[in-house]
Amino acid sequence: MKIEFLLNGETVEIAGEPATRTLLDWLRETKETKKLKGTKEGCNEGDCGACSVMVTSLDGDGVAHQTLNACILLLPQLHGKSVRTVEGLASPDGEMHPVQAAMVEHHGSQCGFCTPGFVMSMATAHRNGERNYNDILAGNLCRCTGYAPIIRAAEAAADVAVPDWITDETAALQAMARDTGVDVCGAYIPKTLDELAGWYQANPDGTLIGGATDVGLWVTKRLMDLTKPCFISQVVELGEVSISESKIRIGAAVTMTEMQELIADHHPDFAEMIRRYGSTQVRNAATIGGNIANGSPIGDGPPALIALGATLHLRKGSETRDLPLEDFFVAYGKQDIGEGEFVEAVSIPRQADNLKCYKISKRFDQDISAVCGCFNISVEGGVVRQARIAFGGMAATPKRASAVEAALMGQPWTDATIKGAIALFERDYTPMSDMRASAEYRLLIARNLLLRYFAESQLGQNYTRVLEVSP
Ligand SMILES: Cc1cc2nc3c(=O)[nH]c(=O)nc-3n(C[C@H](O)[C@H](O)[C@H](O)COP(=O)(O)OP(=O)(O)OC[C@H]3O[C@@H](n4cnc5c(N)ncnc54)[C@H](O)[C@@H]3O)c2cc1C
Ligand code: FES
Ligand code: FES
Repeated sequence: MKIEFLLNGETVEIAGEPATRTLLDWLRETKETKKLKGTKEGCNEGDCGACSVMVTSLDGDGVAHQTLNACILLLPQLHGKSVRTVEGLASPDGEMHPVQAAMVEHHGSQCGFCTPGFVMSMATAHRNGERNYNDILAGNLCRCTGYAPIIRAAEAAADVAVPDWITDETAALQAMARDTGVDVCGAYIPKTLDELAGWYQANPDGTLIGGATDVGLWVTKRLMDLTKPCFISQVVELGEVSISESKIRIGAAVTMTEMQELIADHHPDFAEMIRRYGSTQVRNAATIGGNIANGSPIGDGPPALIALGATLHLRKGSETRDLPLEDFFVAYGKQDIGEGEFVEAVSIPRQADNLKCYKISKRFDQDISAVCGCFNISVEGGVVRQARIAFGGMAATPKRASAVEAALMGQPWTDATIKGAIALFERDYTPMSDMRASAEYRLLIARNLLLRYFAESQLGQNYTRVLEVSP
């Protein structure tokens, strides 16, 4: 079967391309697209946004529009969707889209290399009616112009209507929708959990792909071929969230954008941390299942989930298995997951919100954590009743600070208790030095973050939330 999607409003069908072909390479290099070179290649690893495109998918009875990085977007991920590139932004007779006109008017471009990516992020936000430009544009890097004129341009275009040549794709996408799992260009795209479970049990050497924000880099940077790729983001059950009195169950294919939105009502500091997870483009693609399954010691999701006491739900064939999330991470690069087994969901027990998440990275936006510390401590009558503390970047896996937790439990929530407890981080962690931070710095940060959590609990407020870019 062919990969089928809309490109700037026209249906395209692709056969004979490898499943690992990125949208960026395909756009720029194939005759079928007449070599659409407006979408630029900067980093080729999801960091700069020069390759940003607008992707529209069915969402209930309507459609949803997102910006994604074409450089780490593999062609089968687009099956049944609509892609708009910078070539599809102006009207057929050349009239500029309002964000393009505003970029000219407000001098938002100098060398222009970043500009197609910027206008695609801006046009998607414009179509969605979003105006939080500091977040929206954090994944688009510009080295010449500076952000103030670009943000001024975005603001100037915000109230102009979406032009009528940007037509609604709902009917076309509904006509393309497929009900069951399909094979396209050597890749499998299951639609149901049973299809995925059956396929993976029969093909345990297959490569599961969620948002491809890790796997895409295996292709573009490590030049790997993927064995039997299976794209799981269209599995309906994996995209589901259910909230009961006792727990919040989140399907493995829920994206970090969706995760940010759903967790904001329950644990706002977790949502605030996710705001600094990659960029809008990365969060739109990355899934919570991929963030857990990749076993990274510096992933941002696991420390927060472990601090909340999350349970992981695994599935193999028709068998399911649950385990505390912290037990999933066995050693560096080794997770408790069998052949043909996959992450189905993760559950967070409902609880009063005491969670604080601190992401320490060299850059504020769009950077992987050097250290990510998450604290969930409940205090009743001045005494610590529960303490769950988990860190990323402090060990070979995301890991709880068990000695520090034990030193806090049952103790008065005072300066003296905190000072005694912070000394025990050395017992819990032997961090390493690398390009992100030295071992000494990491330990010092861990100690200071507990002090900060304590101080913030006394003040009832956060110390720093520095995010403003003044236009
Ligand atoms: C520019 C950039 C910035 C980033 N910033 C951050 C950041 O700030 N914080 C952070 O934590 N991470 C960050 N990442 C890393 C990445 O986004 C995350 O690890 C992401 O959550 C992976 O999810 P995915 O769906 O894209 O996984 P994929 O790339 O699709 O898969 C990752 C791994 O998980 C496996 N897998 C995926 N889903 C399942 C499943 N359901 N069951 C079993 N195995 C599965 C895949 O086989 C693969 O081994 C960044 C990445 C990029 C490119
Ligand atoms: S080329 Fe840099 S994000 Fe794609
Ligand atoms: S105008 Fe040169 S990188 Fe933005």
